[in-house]
Amino acid sequence: MLQHVRFSRRLWILAAWTVAGFFCFRFFSINTQNELTNEKQVPTEKAPDTDHSGRHHAHEHSVLWNDAATILETCSLAHIPGFTMLQNVYSINGTLILVSDNGSSLPIPKHVISAWAKVPERRIYLAEEPTHHRIRVVDRATAIRLLGLSARRLHGTTWLFNEPLAYADDSAVLKALRTHYMQESRTGSGPSYLPPRRLLFPHIPIKQQHALPGLSTTPRSIFPSIGIGFKEDWYDYASHDRPIVFDTLVLLDSAATFRNPRILQQPDHSLLRLEVLSPLLAFTPLSNTWWAPWRKRLAEMIGFMESKSNRLIISYVFSSSDHHGKLDSTTHDSLINAAKALEQSHDLVFHVVDTASTNFIDRLRLALSTSIMFGPTGRSLMDVMWMPVAKRATVIELFPDDYLTAKQYHVSKVVGINYQAWRGSRIIEMPSITNETYSELLKSTLQRSVDIEKALRDPIKLDIDKFVQHLVACVEAG
Ligand SMILES: *[C@@H]1O[C@H](CO)[C@@H](O)[C@H](O)[C@H]1NC(C)=O
Ligand SMILES: *[C@@H]1O[C@H](CO)[C@@H](O)[C@H](O)[C@H]1NC(C)=O
Ligand SMILES: *[C@@H]1O[C@H](CO)[C@@H](O)[C@H](O)[C@H]1NC(C)=O
Repeated sequence: MLQHVRFSRRLWILAAWTVAGFFCFRFFSINTQNELTNEKQVPTEKAPDTDHSGRHHAHEHSVLWNDAATILETCSLAHIPGFTMLQNVYSINGTLILVSDNGSSLPIPKHVISAWAKVPERRIYLAEEPTHHRIRVVDRATAIRLLGLSARRLHGTTWLFNEPLAYADDSAVLKALRTHYMQESRTGSGPSYLPPRRLLFPHIPIKQQHALPGLSTTPRSIFPSIGIGFKEDWYDYASHDRPIVFDTLVLLDSAATFRNPRILQQPDHSLLRLEVLSPLLAFTPLSNTWWAPWRKRLAEMIGFMESKSNRLIISYVFSSSDHHGKLDSTTHDSLINAAKALEQSHDLVFHVVDTASTNFIDRLRLALSTSIMFGPTGRSLMDVMWMPVAKRATVIELFPDDYLTAKQYHVSKVVGINYQAWRGSRIIEMPSITNETYSELLKSTLQRSVDIEKALRDPIKLDIDKFVQHLVACVEAG
């Protein structure tokens, strides 16, 4: 029996090696912008100890090579600008080194990561194209010169979010899993690189992590053995003058998405586009089934029980600690009273959720059971990605007069939730993904409010009667 087990394990490693090798050579090129051809595959997962790189000794802590002929080359498993999955990525002194004698088989560096620089005194950052101190593509001979003949090895899959806190939100896990899905849907029944071993946020200091509980709580809920590292941890890896090598590296960088000429023809470096656009717009819509297993997994992991009651749940989600994206207090109170009245008249359950004072896991449980969620624009609404698609879940995002963002719209789209944007007394149209409408959105946002901070601080106006009528219509339709 034991022998049988060993035998199949060896066979499996052999198979993984063959398949990985096959895909490295056969499939991937920088032209893989039209991701997705098939949707049937749902995420699968192998045991965490699996040696994804196909190396023969899964637990070596160092990788050695003798010369340029024996250093393992980097290969691209999946890539569209901003979302990249690579195998055998080296790093020394904080520089990512992609090694290949055929550089054109790898993504263009500026489509992989950005160089982020904080603008003093402002919340904004600049995302410049990366210099060769950040990322380089080198041939094998150069690699030997830069790296020497060995590297410390980081086993398994690493997720690296190359973004500062200002542009991070709880959709981080969604973005990484969507990147894995690109790879899985291409390879059909190919190897899975899940679960990730570690998650790194090189631009977010440890002490800031609590500003966004979802950054670490959600990945830890779904993948309990994941290790999470922040800026200081990254520094520990990067400051070493001995190189490291990542078996598999998933790199996410939203600014890199907007260097894709297919999305914006004249990429400007103002970060306005990061405020109003979502990097998720780069993905083609999928059937909802791709996300369902992850929602189910989260529900299981946090001990969520589906309620036996058939009463529809409506949640009003906001954050009392946010300085922007708020209703004024009179409107807020009237809205709550009006929605509460629906509990009786329409036999439903209405929850008011202040994310500033609600435990994050409780928020997730609530989202998993909510059919209609509404609230002011902002990060709190990201919980919608866990809403039950099967119950025709709908999110309604409330906007102030001079601000519009498509972030939530794209998150909803990627997971298959109905999305509505509401301003004042009516639903407003979200521009579709074309160059023209997006640049219009950018331009109009610019013209109307050069200072986004100010536009967001304006209290959101809401015609309560019209809005509640609309809620009732949603309830009756569902
Ligand atoms: C280099 O990679 C490109 C893109 O994958 C491929 O088309 C080309 O044939 C490769 N060249 C060599 C010499 O392998
Ligand atoms: C890394 O830093 C060390 C010490 O500063 C330096 O000697 C070495 O040349 C650097 N290596 C690379 C590849 O930049
Ligand atoms: C953007 O415009 C270019 C040229 O007009 C076009 O080729 C490309 O498909 C457009 N991208 C989108 C997302 O519509």
